[in-house]
Amino acid sequence: MSDDCRSGDQQVTVRRAVEEDDEALLAIERSAWDASSGFPSYQETLQDTFFSRSGPEAHLVAEHKGAVVGYLRLQDKYPFPEGAGVLTINGLAVAHEARRLGVASALLDAATTEGRLRGARKISLHVHSTNTPARRLYERHGYIVEGTHPNEFLIEGDYIAALDMAKML
Ligand SMILES: CC(C)(COP(=O)(O)OP(=O)(O)OC[C@H]1O[C@@H](n2cnc3c(N)ncnc32)[C@H](O)[C@@H]1OP(=O)(O)O)[C@@H](O)C(=O)NCCC(=O)NCCS
Repeated sequence: MSDDCRSGDQQVTVRRAVEEDDEALLAIERSAWDASSGFPSYQETLQDTFFSRSGPEAHLVAEHKGAVVGYLRLQDKYPFPEGAGVLTINGLAVAHEARRLGVASALLDAATTEGRLRGARKISLHVHSTNTPARRLYERHGYIVEGTHPNEFLIEGDYIAALDMAKML
């Protein structure tokens, strides 16, 4: 699979991840997240391989100017048949130097395409209430808030809400 998305004169290409992307994706994972978007404790659990949680087949990667600059992890939300057709984005991150170029948008478009090809009816995700960039991004791509969980997490001294967002395919 490969999708092209032009943002001005900048080209972003999306493809399925391969094992060789491990190092580049690990570097993104170590630097992309902060307390407004992720869990500081998670950074301490990061291992030497990006693909320790799930393999390349669960990831779409974006390239810009020949470099891997972002990823989206797309998985089945439920392991049982009644929940089949609901996918979940279990991670989306873009390297700082490639932000606001349409990289995440290209990854979300590719996830929508893949979801439809797989016959899915819905893509869901969780986002911190504090993560304004991601919330705007998802809203722009047709995701709506399905639920709010107030005071769900204590992050650096502040209680924050977790939002459930989803898009129907
Ligand atoms: C959120 C994130 C994935 C966005 O990636 P990106 O490639 O910069 O996003 P795009 O360039 O595709 O942006 C598309 C739209 O999203 C919104 N958006 C993205 N970043 C934004 C920001 N910092 N502030 C406000 N809106 C923003 C805008 O509407 C933007 O369109 P515009 O640039 O024409 O205004 C990136 O900032 C990131 O990796 N953040 C850390 C990890 C994270 O929060 N992941 C999501 C967890 S749920």
